[in-house]
Amino acid sequence: MKYQKGEFRYEGKAKRIFEVVGSPDLLWMEFKDSLTAFNAQKKGSFSNKGVINKQIAVLIFRYLSSRGIKSHWVADVSEREWICQRLTIIPLEVVVRNWLAGSTAKKFGIEEGTALKAPLVEFYYKKDELNDPFVSDDQALVIGAAQDQAQLNALKKQALAVNEALVHFFSKMGIRLIDFKIEFGVSERGEVILGDEITPDSCRLWDLATNEKLDKDRFRRDLGRVEESYQEVLKRITSTWESQL
Ligand code: TMP
Ligand code: ASP
Repeated sequence: MKYQKGEFRYEGKAKRIFEVVGSPDLLWMEFKDSLTAFNAQKKGSFSNKGVINKQIAVLIFRYLSSRGIKSHWVADVSEREWICQRLTIIPLEVVVRNWLAGSTAKKFGIEEGTALKAPLVEFYYKKDELNDPFVSDDQALVIGAAQDQAQLNALKKQALAVNEALVHFFSKMGIRLIDFKIEFGVSERGEVILGDEITPDSCRLWDLATNEKLDKDRFRRDLGRVEESYQEVLKRITSTWESQL
């Protein structure tokens, strides 16, 4: 095999990370079956969740790549593992919202599913001990989460480009992209590129016709049919896009 799994590095809530022997610029990432919410206060899992999510993430990254948006994904090595570029993660969760839902709907007392006039980009400081708090641009700079305002502006621009591509991607399969969270990192070559994953764990996806939720809110809110919904998203992606990717 081209890639050889190296030493274990780190275990997160949904992934395990290993070195790649002889390639310090790469990482080996395994998608686990676990499912957590509310900063891991709620825990669950279903078998093959990691396999489904990895497939979804690869198809999305391949689609984004076809639209000129680079990600850290490099190659698949097994059904739940991939090779990706090693990035220095920028400690900001970048959330894009097209329709108000979740924390921001609650914060402003606005009904979930209310349309926004334009996509809203928000930054959350990536720090589990603090529950990933919302930060303004100035706060992000004061705590050193980003280099400078130009970097924050670049993140917003890239996040909006990802949003535009994904809205199209999902609408083709009868899904409304309500909101999502992405992360960026800096590559060895100093390029800011998309990292982590884009899956039903990190997006709100509603069926266009029925508004049925097809994402992690089914787990967060005990709505049932969690596994079926993730499978439905994968099925729609493969039937709509696989031949083109
Ligand atoms: P929020 O409405 O709870 O702030 O979530 C916004 C979007 O970000 C939603 O699609 C879910 C996603 N998200 C994550 O991927 N990880 C997280 O830790 C949180 C809080 C949200
Ligand atoms: N990602 C967080 C967790 O795994 C929160 C969430 O998605 O609700 O706990």
